[in-house]
Amino acid sequence: MIILGINWRHGDAAACIVIDGKLSSAVEEERFTKIKNCSHFPINSIKYCLSSNNLTIDDIDYITVNSQTKYNSLGKLIFIFKNLFNKFIYKNIKLSLLVKKEIRYQFYYYFNKDIKDKIIYVPHHLAHAYSTLFFLEDNQNSLIFSFDGSGDFSTIELYLVNQTKIKLLEKNYFPHSLGFYYMAFTQFLGFKNYGDEYKVMGLSALGSPIYADKIKKYLIKNEYPLRLNFKYFNIPEVTYFKHRPNVELLFNKQFIDIFGEPRSSKEENIKQIYKDYAASMQQVFEDIVFGYLNKFQKQFNSKKIYLTGGCALNGMLAGKIVESKLFNEIRMNPNPGDAGGALGSAFYQAIENKCVIDKNQNIPYSGPSYTNSFIKKNIINKIIDNKKFNIEFCEKDEDLSLNIAKKIKEHKIVFWHQDGMEWGPRALGNRSILADPTDINIKNILNSKIKKRELFRPFAPVVLKNYSDDYFYMHEQDSKYMNIVFKAKENTIQKFPGVVHDDLTSRVQTIEITDNKKLYNLITEFNKLTACPMLINTSLNINAPISMSPMDSFNFFLISEIEVLILNNWIIKLNK
Ligand SMILES: [Fe+2]
Repeated sequence: MIILGINWRHGDAAACIVIDGKLSSAVEEERFTKIKNCSHFPINSIKYCLSSNNLTIDDIDYITVNSQTKYNSLGKLIFIFKNLFNKFIYKNIKLSLLVKKEIRYQFYYYFNKDIKDKIIYVPHHLAHAYSTLFFLEDNQNSLIFSFDGSGDFSTIELYLVNQTKIKLLEKNYFPHSLGFYYMAFTQFLGFKNYGDEYKVMGLSALGSPIYADKIKKYLIKNEYPLRLNFKYFNIPEVTYFKHRPNVELLFNKQFIDIFGEPRSSKEENIKQIYKDYAASMQQVFEDIVFGYLNKFQKQFNSKKIYLTGGCALNGMLAGKIVESKLFNEIRMNPNPGDAGGALGSAFYQAIENKCVIDKNQNIPYSGPSYTNSFIKKNIINKIIDNKKFNIEFCEKDEDLSLNIAKKIKEHKIVFWHQDGMEWGPRALGNRSILADPTDINIKNILNSKIKKRELFRPFAPVVLKNYSDDYFYMHEQDSKYMNIVFKAKENTIQKFPGVVHDDLTSRVQTIEITDNKKLYNLITEFNKLTACPMLINTSLNINAPISMSPMDSFNFFLISEIEVLILNNWIIKLNK
């Protein structure tokens, strides 16, 4: 059975293909269009998924979408009656009623086919729940906590899982949303773009939560179930401009009366009050989530929690859950946001159709990959005579690891482009910038000269799993997808300052040889040379979506003037 899953009409449009219960290809549209969080119909992603599997649209049994218009109909109706004078509500409802027609139209436009009989609409949070891949593991009273801005009018859904059986326990309705709460502060703190919340999470580490009580007093009517005080917020209005989602200002004049003037995005040195607001907002966010988790963990004696939805990208919260020991295990997938819902919807349909799910899935690296000969034809042959570059081909992977480990030891920053692109917002070692964490100045160099971004932003380590306990308080928790923040141990703070944030934490990626052999071997060689079992790992991009093709990586290399670019087995050095 061949299923094409798509995410559209949210940010991060995406497509994937699941064949006989196994993920075959998955990619986000932003990697093709170069528009961050691109919301355009994912036509490039769909075409890639089809061509990389030698399929045509006629071969597809089902097309699944992570949205269902009729879901939460009663809740929507009640909301409409309570907000009769809000023009945006009508516009939004009209758009959501048209979405089914729109999807059929898009497929007709691009493929000249009516896909009416193939399309399956999966409720948004149910698709998030299936994107956790809970069905690949054993489950006894496990919980799935899905939370985001909003999807199909739900903002939080909590499920109970026993083996592959899933049961909805709780839901919260729009507009009472943790995602919108976080976004309101993100805008207030001067970060205006859709998806900037991760910057505020990083900023929160620089402040103290001294305003948490004030936030609770004015903004939160009730923590469980969550009720925001809409005296201080505007009803969320999501629009799309040049294929980017945009949320109109969520905080209003009454909010400013209580919390003061918003920070100007042009202000370079961020005042302490804004850092404290970020820390306080993060604290309240965590308190509310813990209210839900404590209640349901107690009720079902749950040992395992799956986190999903856009808010699950908050690694500080995930770290606090690990630290609390409320659960024995916390599970996250590499793509918990809306793009991941494409995969969740496809797996939902596969399981509904009794497909046998393959337990060995290569989920994180299922994007486009390119061969050495492709790189030779499209890049190397064009620059071979240019004296600006020194080009080498490293036949054996083992030689490549040693060669690059030596360069990183010499404090060279390297652009590392290998094989299949990551599925999800984190570079996990195939589209990465790698650097030496022992260098005290490395954070400043990377932020100001290479990534050209705010100086407070932290960098994450990728560490050999066998050594992770020696350097971080891991609490026996794995972190393959770099989405949990752990406290750094004293030796890390002293020896590897490049991967430690201001609050002495690190968003750790643990790695074993089976996860990514080339990266594992590179770090192993680096460890032999330096007694440091980790590298800085940050995404290969400069104020743009992460690189997809070798040409993208080469272009970033040219802009950055970094000295070393590795494209599979090709090493390109800049002669300075
Ligand atoms: Fe979502």
